[in-house]
Amino acid sequence: MTRTVISPEQIDAQKAVCAQIYDLLHADIARPLAMVDTYGCQQNEADSEKLRGYLAEMGYGFTQDEFEADVVVVNTCAVREHAEMRVLGNVGALNHTKKARPSQIIAVCGCMVQQEHMAEKLKKSYPIVDLVFGPHELWRFPELLLEVMTKHRRLFATAKSDGAVAEGIPLRRDGSVKAWLSIMYGCNNFCTYCIVPYVRGRERSRLPEDIVREARELVEQGYKDLTLLGQNVNSYGKDLNLGVDFADLIRMINDIPGDFLIRFMTSHPKDATKKLFRTMAECEKCAHHIHLPVQSGNDRILKAMNRHYTREKYIAQVALARQYMPDLVLTTDIIVGFPGETDEEFEDTISLCEEVRFDAMFTFIYSKRVGTPAASMPDPFTREQKQQHFDRLTVVANTISAEKHAAYIGTEQRVLIDGETGRDAYNLSARTNGGRLVHLQGDPSLIGQFRTVTITDGNTWALYGTLSAGDTDCG
Ligand code: 5AD
Ligand code: SF4
Repeated sequence: MTRTVISPEQIDAQKAVCAQIYDLLHADIARPLAMVDTYGCQQNEADSEKLRGYLAEMGYGFTQDEFEADVVVVNTCAVREHAEMRVLGNVGALNHTKKARPSQIIAVCGCMVQQEHMAEKLKKSYPIVDLVFGPHELWRFPELLLEVMTKHRRLFATAKSDGAVAEGIPLRRDGSVKAWLSIMYGCNNFCTYCIVPYVRGRERSRLPEDIVREARELVEQGYKDLTLLGQNVNSYGKDLNLGVDFADLIRMINDIPGDFLIRFMTSHPKDATKKLFRTMAECEKCAHHIHLPVQSGNDRILKAMNRHYTREKYIAQVALARQYMPDLVLTTDIIVGFPGETDEEFEDTISLCEEVRFDAMFTFIYSKRVGTPAASMPDPFTREQKQQHFDRLTVVANTISAEKHAAYIGTEQRVLIDGETGRDAYNLSARTNGGRLVHLQGDPSLIGQFRTVTITDGNTWALYGTLSAGDTDCG
């Protein structure tokens, strides 16, 4: 596949369009406002930061109230039907806001609209929607918006594409402690249940120097927690042929001076290597956390899912990772009720969870996605049977998480204090090196600092702690 790069000149041209929109808007409205509503995964959060970056260049302020927004952008997810239903419900509800403010522009973008049937549905049944564009068109959002504004017509930009890499899109990040840092886009794995490869295109990596430059800027700006993002970060660099793989990239970022943490997600088990585990163990800034989705504990199901590993191989990999990092925090994703999954096959997932003992599990009931191979596999089991399995797995997951958290009680942990909870007691939130949530009491001026806390309590969801006496680690 040839690598498609959007040139800096093309992005500059988009920024020039932002300036044009700025002039147009400010002739009319004193303080134009935009609302960006994001669904789904961290990649989508990162995309929304680009949308907000462009909107800020156009001169928009931001609001969470759709009634005062001059432009609403809904950034959608297609991974499960539930997310799509929520999007459609919320887009439908914008009828009221558009009635109250007829000049309001409503844009819907992201993975959901990259599916032909969904773009069609929006075209036919949601006339309030002015602009629809897929993930491949995000880099030219200003141009699309200008066209809608000046030609007063609906615009649908969802052409099929393998995807491109665009550098230099302005970003407007949320918060000042944690930052998303996209290192690659797309996915080549085609797990049979998953829509992502169809809507986000082929795997393509950003150049190492562009990533390292952005990481250095983030550290200089004071960010303390960088999460490297990709659908499968372990295959980083394969498309570049520069001899830089994901472990090398971690090392390059680890070499940036400063006190900060490197996190990443998501890792595909088929591509996680000994070199990665060793690098994680050796790089002092790399968090000892891997999110390693197993999806199922049964070999027939794993094969039907096209996952390219067996239960045994997964368990061996976890053992190896733990050998390098005895304090490793391990989290996973699991799908319950994949087409044809029997009671016995589901039991293998339960036994794998009991054997591996994940710190946290994200569990999902299988959701049929149009156009994926699994959608045409026989699926004889009822929703009720799947729900029963799901409920059982939830109990197992919650019990293990609670036990894992209980083991922290009485220990000291170095945490990054990252925000306020809005509650009186335990007013601050923090994360351990492994990413476990800690609630504690303290002055909000501590936000952004690494501190040592003594863990006093824990449940399935979180740990509770107090700042340790004699804590002199002022990050
Ligand atoms: N149904 C249910 N869960 C899914 N996931 C991906 N596709 C589906 C689907 N069709 C889950 C996987 C993946 C996580 C992000 O979402 O577990 O790891
Ligand atoms: Fe979907 Fe599999 Fe790619 Fe993850 S690795 S995005 S589950 S196809």
